Amino acid sequence: MNHESLLELVNEMTLEEKVAQLQQLTAAFYRGAQTDSAITGPLEELGIDQNTVDASGSILGLSGAEAVIAIQKTYLENSRLGIPLLFMADIVHGLKTIFPIPLAIGASWDMELAEKSAEIAAKESAVSGIHVTFAPMVDLVRDPRWGRVMESTGEDPHLNSLFAKAFVRGFQGDDLKDPERIAACVKHFAAYGAAEGGREYNTVDMSERQMREYYLPAYKAALDEGCAMVMTSFNTVDGIPASGNEKLMRGILRDEWGFDGVLISDWAAIRELIAHGTAEDDKEAAYRAMRAGVDIEMMTPCYVHHLPELVQIGAIDEKMIDEAVYRVLHLKEQLGLFENPLRGADPVREKEIVFCEEHRNVSYELAAKSCVLLKNEDQVLPLKNEQKVALIGPYADSHDILGWWSAEGVKEDAATLGSALGAKMEQGKLMTSAGFSTKHISAEQLAHARELANQADVIVLALGEDSAMSGEGASRTNIQLPEAQIQLVQEMKKTGKKIAVVLFNGRPLDLHGVYDEADAILEAWFPGSEGGRAVADILLGQVNPSGKLTMSFPRSVGQVPVYYNRFNTGRPMDPAKTGERYVSHYIDSPNEPLLPFGFGLSYSAFSYEEPIFSSLEMTAEEPLRVQVKVTNTGEHAGTETVQLYIRDISGEVVRPLMELKDYARLHLQPGESGIADFTVDEAQLRYHHSDLTYTSDPGRFQLFVGPNSRDTLSSEFTFVTSFS
Ligand code: GLC
Repeated sequence: MNHESLLELVNEMTLEEKVAQLQQLTAAFYRGAQTDSAITGPLEELGIDQNTVDASGSILGLSGAEAVIAIQKTYLENSRLGIPLLFMADIVHGLKTIFPIPLAIGASWDMELAEKSAEIAAKESAVSGIHVTFAPMVDLVRDPRWGRVMESTGEDPHLNSLFAKAFVRGFQGDDLKDPERIAACVKHFAAYGAAEGGREYNTVDMSERQMREYYLPAYKAALDEGCAMVMTSFNTVDGIPASGNEKLMRGILRDEWGFDGVLISDWAAIRELIAHGTAEDDKEAAYRAMRAGVDIEMMTPCYVHHLPELVQIGAIDEKMIDEAVYRVLHLKEQLGLFENPLRGADPVREKEIVFCEEHRNVSYELAAKSCVLLKNEDQVLPLKNEQKVALIGPYADSHDILGWWSAEGVKEDAATLGSALGAKMEQGKLMTSAGFSTKHISAEQLAHARELANQADVIVLALGEDSAMSGEGASRTNIQLPEAQIQLVQEMKKTGKKIAVVLFNGRPLDLHGVYDEADAILEAWFPGSEGGRAVADILLGQVNPSGKLTMSFPRSVGQVPVYYNRFNTGRPMDPAKTGERYVSHYIDSPNEPLLPFGFGLSYSAFSYEEPIFSSLEMTAEEPLRVQVKVTNTGEHAGTETVQLYIRDISGEVVRPLMELKDYARLHLQPGESGIADFTVDEAQLRYHHSDLTYTSDPGRFQLFVGPNSRDTLSSEFTFVTSFS
C-alpha cells in the first residue's frame, strides 16, 4: 500500500477504530489463542470490550508460528477493515538460541558478531511469527546497583552507539519486507540507566547537556541506522515522565532528529503519569501522552477510554491521532503485513532453524569472546591436562546461565560448565561438588567441597548471582556475591590450593572476599545457551580469553557511580601522594575502580611501542594518523583490543579525563607484531558546549593508547584551526 492508500485507510476508520489501533495487548485478550472464556477475565480487568480487541493494533509477548497464525487468522475474520495485527516481543539477546547478555556481548567489542547474533535472533523470531523486537536496549549505565545494566553494552557512549547500530542492522537487515528480518525498537528513551541510586524506575535528573553528551548518542545512532521504533522509558526526564514529555519526544526525537516512526510506551507507562504526579487521571494521562507523540499504549486503556472524548471536546486534534495511526499502519506496510499478514510465520521451518546447530555455534563463539579474564596470577589458567580439578559451587552444574530476557530460551538446553568440562577432560581428572543454591551452602556440602579440594591440584569455584538478581526489578544495594559464596571462598582458601573463580552474574560486582583470595578470575556473565561449553574451553586453554570490560568494576558500592570518563575536578587527587586531605578523594578508598573500563587479560602478553604520529598538529582538513605497534610476547595466539582515548585539555566546559574514540582488534600469533592504525579527525573532538552547540575547539589534546583505560601510553597533539 502506498502513502495515498494508507491515508485512505485512515480516513475509512472511525475514531474508535483509530484509537483502538493504538492499543497494544498481550495474547490473553485474543480469540484463537485460547478458549473464549479465558478472555473475559483480562477484558474485565482492563475495562475494555471485545470490539476494542477486534480493532486493536498490536500484540506483545507472543511467539510461536502456530499461535501467531491462529490469532492473526481469527483476528482478521473479525476485523472490519482487515488491518493485520503487529506481533512484538522482547527478543533482547536471542529467541531460543540465547546469546550472552548484552553486557557480555559488549565485552566482546566485536560488532560483526553482535550484528550476527541479532540477525540470528531475527531469523528465529520471524519464523516464529514475531514482527518487532523490543530491542536494542541502549541505555548508558554507570551504576551497577541497577539490575538492568545486564541489558546494556556499558558506560561508554561511543561503544554503545556502535553496538546500537550493529544490533539494528542485524535485526532489520536492508528491507523490513524480508521475511527473515524483524523491526527493531530502540529503548528506553531516555536515560533510564541514570536512575538515582540505581533504584529501579527511580528519578532521573541531569542537565540537558549531560544527557546529550552521554545518554542520547546511542539512541540517535540506532535511529541513524534506520531503527523502526522507539520505546519510552519509565523515568522522568527533567521532572517530566518520558511518556508525557513533549520536549523530549516531539522536541528532540521527532522535530530535531526527524524520527517519524512508531513511538510506543513502555508497559503501563502512560497510566503511570498518574503515580508520577503529572496526570490527575487516565484522561489527563492520555492527553499528555498523545501531546507528547506516543503512538502506541502498551497494556493500559487510557487512549481507548479517553481519546475519543478528548477529540470531541477539542482538547486533542483528531489530526494528531491520524498521524499516530498512520505511523502504525505504515510500519505494517513496511513489514509487508498487508500483502501477507502471516509474513514469515512458518511452523515447519520454525522446527528446522530455531535453536539449530549453526545458530548455537555463533552463540558459542560470542560467549567465548565475551568472557573477561580479570586476574590470572602464576598462570593458574589455563588448566593443565595432568591436573586433578575440583569444580565446586552453585554454578558447577547450573543450567541457569541464560540471564534475564531469555525469551523462549530453555535453561535445560544449556550445557552446564561441569558437563562441558567432563566431556573434555581425561577420565578421573574432574571432581565436582555441585547442587549448591546461590545463597546457601550446607555443612555437608561444605564438607564435601573440602574433601574434593584436598584431593585436587587446583580448585575451580563456579560462583555468581542468581539470574533473578539482575534484570528488570532487580536493583541491589549490596553488589557482592551472596555471603554463603564468600564463605565458601574463605574455606577453599584454607586448603592452600590454587583457586580459579568463574563468575556468572549480570552486573559488575564488588569482589570483596573474592578478588584478593582467588588466584584467577574469569568473568563469564550470563553466557547463554552455549556458555558452559565456551567457559570450559577457556578454562582448558582451547580458547584464549579476549573480552574487555565495558563497565567499571567498583572496589565497593560506596564508589558508585564510578566510570572511566570522569572529570578531573579542581582538586584532583594524585594517587602517588596519598594522605593529602584537601583533594577529591575518599579517606577509606582509592578513587580508581578495582577494574577499569576496557580491562581484560589474556593468556598471551602484549607489548606496546610508543605511538607514531603523522604530525603533532592536526587541522579539520588534515586529520591525525596514529600507528601503534603491538607484539604478542606470550605463548598463545590471542586477540588484543587496542584502545585509543582522547582528552581535551581545556574546553568551554569541563571535559573528561579521557574518552574512547576508536579501537582495533589485533589477532596475533606468539611473537607476531601488528599495527593498530588509527585516524583522528575533527569530528571526534566535538562536544556539547554550554549553549548546546556541538562543535570542536582548537587547543591541546592528550592521546592515550593501551589495553584498557588505565594502563596507557600518552602523547600530546594540538588541534589548529584557521582562527586559533
Ligand atoms: C518491560 C520493560 C521493557 C519491555 C516491556 C515489554 O517493563 O521495561 O523493556 O520491552 O516491558 O515486555
